[in-house]
Amino acid sequence: MKKKILITTAIDYVNDVIHIGHAYQKILADCVSRFERERRGKENVFFVTGTDEHGQKVFHVAKEKGVDTKTFVDEISKKDQEQQDSLQISYDRFIRTTDEDHKKVASEFFKKVYDAGYIYKGTYKGLYCEGCEAYKTGKDLIDGKCPLHQNNEIQIVEDENYFFKFSSFKDFLKELFEKNTDFVLPNQRYKEMYAFIDTIEDIPVTRRKEKLPWGIECPVDENHVLWVWFDALVNYLTFGLQVGSWDSDTEIVHFIGKDIARMHALLWPCMLKSAGYELSSHIYDHGFLSLNGKKISKSLGNVVAPKDLVEKYGVDPVRYYFLRYGPIVEDSDFSEDNFKTVYNADLANGLGNTVARLEKLAEKSGISFAFETEDSNVLSTELSQYFDVYRVDIALQYIWSKISDLDKKINEEEPWGIKDNEKLKEVLQFEIEDLILIAKLCKPFMPDTSEKILNIFKQKKITSIGGLFPRI
Ligand code: ME8
Ligand code: MG
Repeated sequence: MKKKILITTAIDYVNDVIHIGHAYQKILADCVSRFERERRGKENVFFVTGTDEHGQKVFHVAKEKGVDTKTFVDEISKKDQEQQDSLQISYDRFIRTTDEDHKKVASEFFKKVYDAGYIYKGTYKGLYCEGCEAYKTGKDLIDGKCPLHQNNEIQIVEDENYFFKFSSFKDFLKELFEKNTDFVLPNQRYKEMYAFIDTIEDIPVTRRKEKLPWGIECPVDENHVLWVWFDALVNYLTFGLQVGSWDSDTEIVHFIGKDIARMHALLWPCMLKSAGYELSSHIYDHGFLSLNGKKISKSLGNVVAPKDLVEKYGVDPVRYYFLRYGPIVEDSDFSEDNFKTVYNADLANGLGNTVARLEKLAEKSGISFAFETEDSNVLSTELSQYFDVYRVDIALQYIWSKISDLDKKINEEEPWGIKDNEKLKEVLQFEIEDLILIAKLCKPFMPDTSEKILNIFKQKKITSIGGLFPRI
C-alpha cells in the first residue's frame, strides 16, 4: 500500500445545481476519504471536489438566462458547495475551474503537451454533443441522438482546431490496461473501456474564441480557448500539485459515473503521459441513480436536492441510504417511500433499537462502566478488504450483520432477567463493547451517529439519550 492517497470526484457542470445523482458520488468518495484517514493517517489523505465551469453548455445556459457568465457560474458553484456541505462532504478543497491557479496549471499543461509534439493544427468536421461536451461518431448515436441527451440536437461542426494525437497512444493504453487489471473498477467497466481502445481517433482540444469565448485561453494561440475536458480533467493535477501529492508515493483514485468513463480511463492517462506526469492508479465508475423509475432530469421536473432530504430526515440517514443502496455497480432507483422503509428497518428498528436497548439496560443497572471509546483504531480486516475495492455497500452489510449478531446475543443472554450485579456487569460489559466496536466501524459512513453512540458509553454512569432514529 502506498503511503498517501489522493481522492477525487468528478467536478460538476454549473449549468444547474446538483441533484442526488451527483451527490451519491460525493458521499461515496467522502466515505472512502474518511476511512483512509483512519487507515493512513489524516496527513496522508487528500480529497478534492468542485465545479466544472467552462464549456459550451454553461456558456449557452447563462446566455439564455441573460446573465453574465461569471456571475452565473459564481452563483451555481456556491449553491453546489452548499449542497455538498449539507452532506458533510469532508473535501480538502472545493476547486473551481475558474480559479486562477487552476487556469495557470491547465494552460501550462497544454503547453507541455504541445511542446512534446502531441498537438497539431487541423480542421474538424464532425458531430458534437453539448450535453456530454464530447465529440461523437455515428456509432455513439441512437436515431441520430445522444442516448444520454435525447432532448438536445447533435451539432454538426466544422472548424479550425488544435488536435491532440490521441490515436498514437493505443499501444500505450493496451499495455497500461494489461499491466493494471484493476486500473478501472468495477471489472465489467474495465472490459468495456479496454474494448474502446481500438476506436480512438485524434480529437480537437481547442475551440475558436469567435465561436466560444468562454474558456481558458490557449497558450499557443490567443484566438483559441481550451476544450472543456482538456481543462476540467487537469483540476485533479492542480490540486495534486498544490498539496505536493502527484507522485509515485500517492495512490490517485478518481470516483466518477459511467457516462464519463472514457474521458477518465482513456483520455486522461494519455494526457498525463504526453505531459510527462505520473498516471492515476484507479478509476472507479459507479452506475446511475434514477428517481421513481425515471431518469433524473430537470426537463422531467423530477429533481431532488440532497439538502432538502437532509433537512427532512437528517444527514446520516441520507448518507447511510446511498452508501448501502446507491448505484455502486448497477444502476439503482431512489424513491422517498423506499427510503422511509429502509430508514425504519435498518436505522430505527436496527441500529437505533440496539443502542436504545443497551443504554436503557445500562442506565437501569446503575453500574459504573469504563469503556474505551476514544481509540479510533476502527480497522477490521474485513472492512479494509471491502474498502480496497471501494465496496462501501458490502462494508455496511458486514457492519449490519454485526448488529444482528449483537441483537441475537442480547436476546439469548436476557440481561434484563439477571439479578446478580457482578454477572450483569460482565454480560453488559461484553455486549456494550460489541456495540462500541460497531459505532467505531460506522464512523466513515455516519460520523455524527458514531460520535453520539460513543458519547453515551463514554459516561461512567450511563444516562440514555433515546431516539437516535425516531420511526417515521
Ligand atoms: O460530467 N446518477 O459533469 P456533470 C449517478 N463536468 N451519477 C450521476 C447522475 C445520476 N443520475 N447524474 C450525473 C461532468 N451523475 C463533467 C465532469 S470531471 C473532470 C468533469 C454524475 O455535472 C456523472 O456521472 O454532467 C458525473 O460523474 C458527475 O455526476 C458530474 O456530472
Ligand atoms: Mg452529465
